Amino acid sequence: MTESITIRRPDDWHLHLRDGAMLKAVLPETARHFGRAIIMPNLVPPVVTGALAAAYRDRILAALPEGMHFEPLMTLYLTEDTDSSDLAAAHASGLVKAVKLYPAGATTNSASGVRDFNKVRPVLEKMAEIGLPLCVHGEVTDAEIDIFDREAVFIDRVLDPIRKATPGLRVVMEHITTRDGVQYVAANDTDLGATITAHHLIINRNHILVGGIKPHYYCLPVAKREEHRLELLKAATSGDPRYFLGTDSAPHTDDNKEMACGCAGCFTATNTMSLVAEMFDREGAMDKLEGFVSLNGPAFYGLPVNEGTITLAKGGPVEYPDKIETEDGPVRVFDPGFPLHWRVV
Ligand code: DOR
Ligand code: ZN
Repeated sequence: MTESITIRRPDDWHLHLRDGAMLKAVLPETARHFGRAIIMPNLVPPVVTGALAAAYRDRILAALPEGMHFEPLMTLYLTEDTDSSDLAAAHASGLVKAVKLYPAGATTNSASGVRDFNKVRPVLEKMAEIGLPLCVHGEVTDAEIDIFDREAVFIDRVLDPIRKATPGLRVVMEHITTRDGVQYVAANDTDLGATITAHHLIINRNHILVGGIKPHYYCLPVAKREEHRLELLKAATSGDPRYFLGTDSAPHTDDNKEMACGCAGCFTATNTMSLVAEMFDREGAMDKLEGFVSLNGPAFYGLPVNEGTITLAKGGPVEYPDKIETEDGPVRVFDPGFPLHWRVV
C-alpha cells in the first residue's frame, strides 16, 4: 500500500517572484502546489507604495498560466519615507497583507531599506493600530559584526527594542536560522511568529564551504552550524502554531550565482513540498506537516485556510529538473544532496 497524506492546500509565507521573464518562468513552479504566497517587494525599484503593489499584483496575475489558481498576497517595502496613510489605505482595501523591513544593505536590493529605526516609529505605530504585520529580515549590517552572528545581534539590538516600543505590533521573524531565533519566539507571545525555509531545514554552513564553495547553497541569512539547523527542525516539527513555512525561494540565474561575487538565494519553489515532507517524515512528524505548511500561517495572518487540498504520496525517489529555463537564463533548482520520496500527486 502506498503511504499518502492529504492536507489543506499549502501557502508560502515568503516568496520572491521577481518580474518580467523571471516572473513568468518561476510563478507556475509555486502556483502548482501553493494557494497563496506573501510576495516580497525587493524589486528594482522596490514596491514602496500601494499603487506600485497594485500594479505588481496585476503583473503577477497576468503571468499566471490559464487554469492555474494562485493568490498573491502583496507587501510594501518599508523605507524611511513610507507614508502611513498610503500604507493604511493599501491595507484597508485588502491589497496589502504585510510590510517588509529590510535593514539597508542586508541583502539583495535592500539599499532603500531602513538605516535609522527611529524614523519608521510612526509607521510601525500605525501598523500596530490597524493590525498590519511587519515581516522582518532580521540581520544587522554593521561591518564589525560577524555574518554568522548577525541574526542574534539583530534580535537584541533592533527587534526586541522595536517590539517593546510598539506594543501590539505583529511581527514575523522571517527565515530564522538560529537557536537564538527559536528561543526568542518561544519566549514571546502570539504577536510574534517566524517563518522557516525548506533549505535551512536541510543545509548547515558546511554544505556551503566544505569540499569547494557551493554558490547554490549561499543565501541570506547564511546557513549556520548544524546545532542551529537541528533547532529549526525541532521548531518546525513541534506543532507550535507560531512557526510556518516561508520558502524564501529566491531565483537568480546560474550566471549570477556562479561568479566571483555571486547572488544570495536558493531556488526551492519547484521541490519545496518534497523537501519539507522528507524532513518531517525523517523526524516522525508527518502529523505536524499540515500545521506548518497550511494552517499556522493563515491563523497568524487572520486569513481563512485554503479550500482545496493536496495529496502527497511516498514512493521511489522523485525526479526533479536540475534547473528551470527562463528567458534570462537557467535557474538551478535546490538540490538537497539526498533522494526525496514524497511527491505531490
Ligand atoms: O538569499 C536571499 N535571497 N535572501 C534574501 O533575503 C533575499 C533573497 C533575494 O531576493 O535574492
Ligand atoms: Zn527573502
